Amino acid sequence: MTTTSMKDVARAADVSVGTVSNVLNRPDAVAEETRRRVQAAIARLGYVRNDSARQLRAGRSRNVAIVVLDVANPFFTDVVRGAEPLVDTAGGVVTVCDSGEDVGREAKQLEILEEQRVLGLLITPVDNSSAERLARLAAHEIPVILVDRGAGLHPHCSVAVDDVHGGRMAARHLLELGHESIAFAGGPTSIPQVDDRLTGCREVCEGAGAGLEVLTSVSLNVTGGREAVEQMLALPRPPTAVFCANDLIALGALQGLTMRGIKVPEECAIIGYDDIDFAAAAAVPLSSVRQPRAQLGRTAAQLLFDEISEGPGHTHRNVVFQPELVARASTAVNL
Ligand code: RIB
Repeated sequence: MTTTSMKDVARAADVSVGTVSNVLNRPDAVAEETRRRVQAAIARLGYVRNDSARQLRAGRSRNVAIVVLDVANPFFTDVVRGAEPLVDTAGGVVTVCDSGEDVGREAKQLEILEEQRVLGLLITPVDNSSAERLARLAAHEIPVILVDRGAGLHPHCSVAVDDVHGGRMAARHLLELGHESIAFAGGPTSIPQVDDRLTGCREVCEGAGAGLEVLTSVSLNVTGGREAVEQMLALPRPPTAVFCANDLIALGALQGLTMRGIKVPEECAIIGYDDIDFAAAAAVPLSSVRQPRAQLGRTAAQLLFDEISEGPGHTHRNVVFQPELVARASTAVNL
């Protein structure tokens, strides 16, 4: 008995396989008429979603590897937790690898994961240096899903957030409060997400004739935030606001300013990025640009299993979510 595939449903409903996947996973993202047509085709053909047994190809590992930049960053914890339920349902297991933003460490991890013939790989690459190895993994039937990163020209599915727009939102928020000069505290711009956030911030500042001090790259963590504050306060005319490329840097900036007796937000405003739980729980609750972290993980896992079940006919999909500004006490003063 041949089983009905997603491609059969797509053909019957005259839509793409991606639309069928959206009807199954994100029905709210599909127009009602199209959704009904796909659902009717599913019913008519008796399509049954791949069960866990079929999702895991015989003779393959049941291990889904997730390589993250910093396992101590709650952003990645939330992404992993978003991915796990789908992997569990498919009878698999998640293994987390921490590249520590180190390309050599990442390369070693990818080499071992390739030898292990893992079922699939979700990764936030340190930079583009792993592109060739990731393409090879994909060629060896180990699907690679880029997380928190657009695929660009790389042959992979990806799930990301529009970080350029996120950078614009953060800068616009600060300028609307009356700040005329902003500091940007981010990690190395070789990390595309950081570069995109800076790009959006710079675009708004230049458009408004506002000052922008780009602090030399700091680590994407609390220590980096404290270092950024020291750099900013050493400037001849320190800005009155700092946009941090993630919330860990923002927490470090808050600590650094507080230790120097500088009031937040009265004397310096802070906005971060990700909206991890610690942002709202900080001594001065942090404004942030929210990333849908669990949804990023869940969608990445779904893209992986879609690619496995669709086989060679799979068409890569690049999902982009929109960020959301969350204003809290750390920017709650109009100048
Ligand atoms: O993935 C790079 C950065 O983007 C991480 O630091 C994480 O916080 C996200 O904001």
